[in-house]
Amino acid sequence: MKHKTQVGIIGAGPAGLTLALLLERAGIGSVIIENRSRDYVESRVRAGLLEQNTVNLFDELGVAGRLNKEGLQHKGVYFSFDYERQRIPFDELTGGRCITIYGQQEVIKDLIKANLEKGTQIEFEASATSIEGIDGTTPIIHYQQNGEQHSLECAYVAGCDGFHGISRKTLPKSTYREYVKEYPFSWLGILAYAPPSTDELIYCYTERGFSLHSLRSESVSRLYLQVTNDDSLDNWSDDRIWDELSRRLHTEGFVLNTGEIFEKAITPMRSFMIDNMQYGRLFLAGDAAHIVPPTGGKGLNLAVADVRWLAVALIASFQTNNDDKLQAYSTNALRRIWRAQDFSNFMTGLFHKQQEQGSFEYHLQKAKFDYIRQSRAYATTIAENYVGLKEI
Ligand code: APR
Ligand code: PHB
Repeated sequence: MKHKTQVGIIGAGPAGLTLALLLERAGIGSVIIENRSRDYVESRVRAGLLEQNTVNLFDELGVAGRLNKEGLQHKGVYFSFDYERQRIPFDELTGGRCITIYGQQEVIKDLIKANLEKGTQIEFEASATSIEGIDGTTPIIHYQQNGEQHSLECAYVAGCDGFHGISRKTLPKSTYREYVKEYPFSWLGILAYAPPSTDELIYCYTERGFSLHSLRSESVSRLYLQVTNDDSLDNWSDDRIWDELSRRLHTEGFVLNTGEIFEKAITPMRSFMIDNMQYGRLFLAGDAAHIVPPTGGKGLNLAVADVRWLAVALIASFQTNNDDKLQAYSTNALRRIWRAQDFSNFMTGLFHKQQEQGSFEYHLQKAKFDYIRQSRAYATTIAENYVGLKEI
């Protein structure tokens, strides 16, 4: 079957769903093509840290009702090194800016609901197979659904289909450079019915490796452990996970609450970038163009920041026939993405065990940690990157 719309969006992740809402607000029609079922995308567990800009945008779009009720606003974060903890008060250091903890799957539920209420068509279990004619004026997304072939003709294509999607592969190879950094460790992440043992996130370096205490609600904790890339969940009984977490998170007086673990996964860590996000009428956004290691929780926020730029540019093109902003999209988005790549790489290097205790690398990590304690300027640099720069 043949369909038509103004903007064809591939992918119903944070990038695609937010873009559709931004376009709808300006009276521009879009259709979202999503590989997976609604149920699958609404239950996919991922990080849950929202920067101030992201919360502000969701507020503006009228989709922050539940987020404002159930999200947990944090005004600071704890950094631990060798069992000593210090707090970075980012509201104090950044003029009142904060982060909000709210699971990504909750964000997805809110965004899907709002899109459907506003009449945006989302085709679930529809797999985009190719994008034709991005050089011309009416590109076509070909997709398969229920064993049938469909085509969606549009003025622009937004490739919001994540790292494994087809959009990046459709950009001519000669138009971009690719950068990959694989880290020699992974994260074992759990969700547990355990009241959080902390009021704010704790990032932790010890000689046993990195750990992170995050949370989801008054009764659910989210915790992570650094493991090796060849490790397997078979090696990690619930008892071993709690034991290791409590050793790594230890400081004087700290008691770790434990409980039933209901989600467990090991995820490798990588940084990935391309240095051009557009060709002809195809524009990439979110994980389709970049992956950051999760130390710092930037993934979702970058996806949302990309489509904020993209929506402004698409709206200008439709409303005033001026494509200058579309031509500047890639350059503008990349500035923020490189900043986040640098910060995520910095946080990863600061907190993960890379070499033996007492090695040169260890002393550099420790020197940074000591410097955070000594220098308000250095702590401010970290705080403003952590909550996300207002404008970039
Ligand atoms: N056709 C249709 N949909 C596709 C295709 C395809 N060929 N390939 C992938 N998709 C869908 C995926 O099923 C997924 O739902 O595209 C969506 C991409 O969503 P995300 O991976 O969530 O990517 P993005 O919106 O850029 O958000 C980035 O999500 O990966 C996390 O932690 C990351 O928080 C970050 C955020
Ligand atoms: C999470 O809550 O899942 C989370 C928080 C902060 C991070 C990564 C993940 O840096």
